[in-house]
Amino acid sequence: MVDLSPFCLYITGVTGTGKTSVAKKLSKQLSLDYLEINTLVLEKGFYLGYDINRDSVIIDDELLISHIESIITDKKRLCLVGGIIPLKNVIDLIIVLRCGVNILKQRLTSRNYPKDKIESNLEAEIMNIVYYEAVEFFPGQEIVEIYNDNITIDETCNQIVSIVRQHHPSILE
Ligand SMILES: Nc1ncnc2c1ncn2[C@@H]1O[C@H](COP(=O)(O)OP(=O)(O)O)[C@@H](O)[C@H]1O
Ligand SMILES: [Mg+2]
Repeated sequence: MVDLSPFCLYITGVTGTGKTSVAKKLSKQLSLDYLEINTLVLEKGFYLGYDINRDSVIIDDELLISHIESIITDKKRLCLVGGIIPLKNVIDLIIVLRCGVNILKQRLTSRNYPKDKIESNLEAEIMNIVYYEAVEFFPGQEIVEIYNDNITIDETCNQIVSIVRQHHPSILE
């Protein structure tokens, strides 16, 4: 059996910046196991309650983190997708997807999200909160921002593949 080098890619960003679309495609391209944090939270019941204003569940960080830590340890190649959570395990590359607010507003509005949810996500994007959280939780690790409001999903994936090719060439062997 081929001994694949372990690799954990973390695709993050504000809601609507393209995490799911990009990560699904990229996982196939790079043969990574796709793991969406929100899906995991719902499937495993890693939540404490529900925030009506934000139309989202309140995540039980402790349970979620220890579960993901154990998956990262077991899995050799993973594409983790979702908001930033402070993992202790090694993440090889963090991609923060960014999107200009006009396009992001269109994407969020078309999903019929409540006003508060749209506003809090736009504010988070303007303040670049996800990037600063990533820097705080993963100091010294490779964190790359990619704006995708003027490029296609394929182009976004290609940009990520070239970063992987440059910095983690063994993944593409
Ligand atoms: N370059 C791009 N990268 C990612 N998504 C894009 C891009 N261009 C347009 N989109 C669209 O933006 C939306 C992003 O939604 P989604 O992938 O669910 O984001 P998230 O998972 O971050 O909430 C999709 O409708 C997707 O088709
Ligand atoms: Mg998503």
